[in-house]
Amino acid sequence: MMHNRQMRSTLRVHLKVALRVCECALLAVAWSGNTAAQGDAKRGEYLAKAAGCVGCHTEEKEGAVPFAGGRALKTPFGTFYGPNITPHPKAGIGSWTEADFIRAIRVGERPDGSNYFPAFPYPSFTKIVDGDLRDLWAYLRTLPPSAHPSKEHDLWFFFGWRWVVTFWKWFFFTPGPFTNIPGLSDIANRGAYLVQALGHCSECHTPRNFLGGPKSSRYLAGGKAPDGKAVANLTPTGLRKWDDKELKDFLVTGFTPDGDVPAESMGEVVTNTTSKLTAPDLDALVAYLRTLPSLPSEKKS
Ligand code: HEC
Ligand code: HEC
Repeated sequence: MMHNRQMRSTLRVHLKVALRVCECALLAVAWSGNTAAQGDAKRGEYLAKAAGCVGCHTEEKEGAVPFAGGRALKTPFGTFYGPNITPHPKAGIGSWTEADFIRAIRVGERPDGSNYFPAFPYPSFTKIVDGDLRDLWAYLRTLPPSAHPSKEHDLWFFFGWRWVVTFWKWFFFTPGPFTNIPGLSDIANRGAYLVQALGHCSECHTPRNFLGGPKSSRYLAGGKAPDGKAVANLTPTGLRKWDDKELKDFLVTGFTPDGDVPAESMGEVVTNTTSKLTAPDLDALVAYLRTLPSLPSEKKS
C-alpha cells in the first residue's frame, strides 16, 4: 500500500514538472510567434512607396506633414479628403491595433464596422499579402504623430452614406490576398502583384461604369479618368510603341521618349511610386504589363 501511495505522489510530481515544461514551451512558441509576426518597418517604408500611400494622405501644399491627411481627391461623387494616418491617438490612427489596420485594408471596414468609400483604393489593396500588411503597419507606427485633424468628406447627397457602399461592394469588391497567376513566370507574377495590389494601377487605368465600378472586361485598357481626362491603355496595344527601356525610363523620369511629360495624376504616380521601385521590381512590373491581353483603345469622343 505504502509503495503504491509513494508511486502516485512521484507520478504527481512528474506530471507537475511535465506540465511546467509544456507551459514554458507554449509560452516560448507564443513569444516567438509574436516576434515573427512583428512587421518590419524598413520593408514597410518601401511598400508604402510602391503603394503611393503618401500622395492621398498628405495635403498639397508646401511644408505639409506627410501622412497627416488633408489631400483633396475630386470624384464624380464629390470630394474626398485623405485622412490623417499618423499614430496620433485622436487625430490619427494611434489607438488602432494591427488587426484594425489589416481589416481596414483587406475588407474596407472601419474599426466600428462601417464601410470605407472606395476612393480609398482597398479594392486593389485587399490583394496585399498579410506579411506586407504587417510591415506597412510597423512603418506607419514609426511616423511622428501629428495632431492635424482629418477633414470631413464633401459628398453629394446619398453618395455620402457609408451603408450604400455595401451594395457597391456586392457588385465590385472581391476581398482576398493576391495569389500567383498560373502560367506566368515568377518575375511576371511579382510584377502582377506590384501592378494589381500595391501600385493599384487599375484604379485609374481601368475604365468605370456609371456606378463607379471597374469594367473588368477592359482591365487596364484605359479610357477616361474620373476627372474626365484620358487615361492611357497599358495593354500591349497601347504600349507596343515603346520598348522596355523607354517604358522604364518613363516610369522613372516621367518623360516619354519624345520628351513629353504626362498628365498631373500620372506625374504624381511616377514621383511617389514607380520612380521609387528597385530595378528588379521595375523589370517585373514591365514584364507583367507585356503579358496582358491586347485590348483596343477606346475611341476618342
Ligand atoms: C487614391 C488615394 C489613396 C491612396 C493611394 C491611399 N489611401 Fe488611404 N484612404 C484614402 C481615403 C479617401 C480614405 C478615407 C476613406 C473613407 O473615409 O471612407 C483613406 C483611408 C485610409 C485609412 C483609414 C483611416 C481612418 O481614419 O479611418 C487608412 C488606415 C489608410 N487609408 C491607409 C492607407 C495606406 C497604408 C495606404 C498605402 C498602402 C493608403 N491608405 C493609400 C485614400 C487613399
Ligand atoms: C491616379 C491615376 C493613375 C494611376 C494610379 C496610375 N496612372 Fe498611369 N496614367 C494616368 C494618366 C491620366 C495617364 C495619361 C497621361 C497622359 O496622357 O499625359 C497615365 C499614363 C501612363 C503611362 C503612359 C502610357 C502612354 O501610352 O503614354 C504609363 C506607362 C502608365 N500610366 C503606367 C502606370 C502604371 C504602371 C501604374 C501603376 C503603378 C499607373 N500608371 C497608375 C493615371 C494614373
